[in-house]
Amino acid sequence: MEKFYITTPIYYVNDKPHIGHAYTTIIADVLAHFWRTQIGEDNVFFLTGTDEHGAKIAEAAEKNNISPQKFTDNISTLFKEAWHNLEISNDYFVRTTDENHKKIVVDILKTLKQAKTPQGNDVLYEGEYEGLYCIGCEKFITASELVDDKCPDHNKVPEKLSEKNWFFKLSDFLPSIKEKIESGELIIYPEGRKKEVLGLIKQGVPDISISRSNKSVSWGIDIPWDKDQKTYVWVDALSNYITALEYPAGENFKKFWPADVHLMGLEILKFHTLLWPAMLMALGVELPKSMYIHGFFTIDGKKMSKTLGNVIDPNELVNQYGAEVSKYLILSQFAFGAESDIKIEDFPIKYNADLVNGLGNLVNRVTNMVEQYMDGKIDVDFKDMNLGHEELKQLHFREALLTIWQVIAKDNSLIDQEKPWVLAKDKVNGEARDGGLGHEANKEKLTKILQELTLDLYNIALSLKPFMPKKSKEILDIITAKQIKKPSEPLFPRLQIK
Ligand code: ME8
Ligand code: MG
Repeated sequence: MEKFYITTPIYYVNDKPHIGHAYTTIIADVLAHFWRTQIGEDNVFFLTGTDEHGAKIAEAAEKNNISPQKFTDNISTLFKEAWHNLEISNDYFVRTTDENHKKIVVDILKTLKQAKTPQGNDVLYEGEYEGLYCIGCEKFITASELVDDKCPDHNKVPEKLSEKNWFFKLSDFLPSIKEKIESGELIIYPEGRKKEVLGLIKQGVPDISISRSNKSVSWGIDIPWDKDQKTYVWVDALSNYITALEYPAGENFKKFWPADVHLMGLEILKFHTLLWPAMLMALGVELPKSMYIHGFFTIDGKKMSKTLGNVIDPNELVNQYGAEVSKYLILSQFAFGAESDIKIEDFPIKYNADLVNGLGNLVNRVTNMVEQYMDGKIDVDFKDMNLGHEELKQLHFREALLTIWQVIAKDNSLIDQEKPWVLAKDKVNGEARDGGLGHEANKEKLTKILQELTLDLYNIALSLKPFMPKKSKEILDIITAKQIKKPSEPLFPRLQIK
């Protein structure tokens, strides 16, 4: 791979960022860091941003009594600040209210208006829409999806809509999307989600309306040839992945497209795997290489919601643990792709176990022994073991971390078993104490053990770089110094658990 382009969804600005948004963004951050170590800084592009148009946002602005633009400026800033606090390394932050984005979306729409489907039909056509629309989802919803007449995700009765819209002839693109998914040209991971998409295609997917009447939506991009209509927010939003690269002529577009990984939660799978590829095909643009879909997590077994008051603010985690530890704690909770639960009471326990007693303790013990017994000088051939690389390439974050932590555990028990201090005593006193091993043999054994431990620490630190770039550098600086010294402050101070 000589370039790597990774994206997160662009988040709605109807409310401030929460730990769910942080999760996807942290994953992207780790992968971006990883690929930067593999192929160089300049060859990685990591995009995130905010989705700012549509009825949902306009409603939220109205509730807050400010203009949609002012409202989106405010919330978009909160997202930027949260990512800054979490030390997220995105290369660009796209906003769908950016002039540049809006201008390119207009060009995209004009191109789609001229385009033909593989069967020779117009890609866009005028039609009448009658149906139910859920503003929370920003999508049309069928009666069969309702529970007690309400959208189950938003617990709201959908609006009845009947209006003239522009439609996208999605059905004509489905056979070729199916083929690309089946052949692996477009990877959908995990396998279960791929099957889900193929199942949807098999059932048949109706054409999709890509505009909304001004009467129902006033906050959006005008359809260039029809001033009575605004662009459907999903067409606007999906386009961000190429507008941010300045499609079609921008240097970044030439260098980074197609995307290597689009990351997202499972609820927006359909838009990304059906509408987006169809839009790209209609534009004559290459499809992204892969889409990685993760599950939603709940908090203490419940869906995160304002009313339940269980929404976790990533800024609060950063205040308590710092950015790098917060990211570690979030990623080590569960396997990618799984739907799972976060228990915030587990965070301090995990912190003490993995970081204080595990990694921090190992760094202390090894550097202390090298300083005491070897005068800080140890001859180590620093070769890379690529711990956890294969797992990371597959987006198995938790497994990558587990691989690293297995080495930490192995080393801590090696120290407990071998008791290097006993071998060292012999060296000091000049007599054999270890079951009759001679002085020279003990010295040799001690050196070998400390060499192994130092080499492991080197590799642990290297492999942690994508997850904890600063801690990684701190450890590497200590053990690659001419003279190794035990850090004066513990790497991870112990938390008192109430
Ligand atoms: O859907 N668990 O934006 P959004 C895990 N604007 N991940 C979660 C989560 C949870 N409980 N809650 C949110 C939109 N996420 C559109 C996207 S893209 C062209 C447009 C994450 O603000 C997850 O990545 O609702 C999910 O897909 C995304 O936030 C949805 O953010
Ligand atoms: Mg959502």
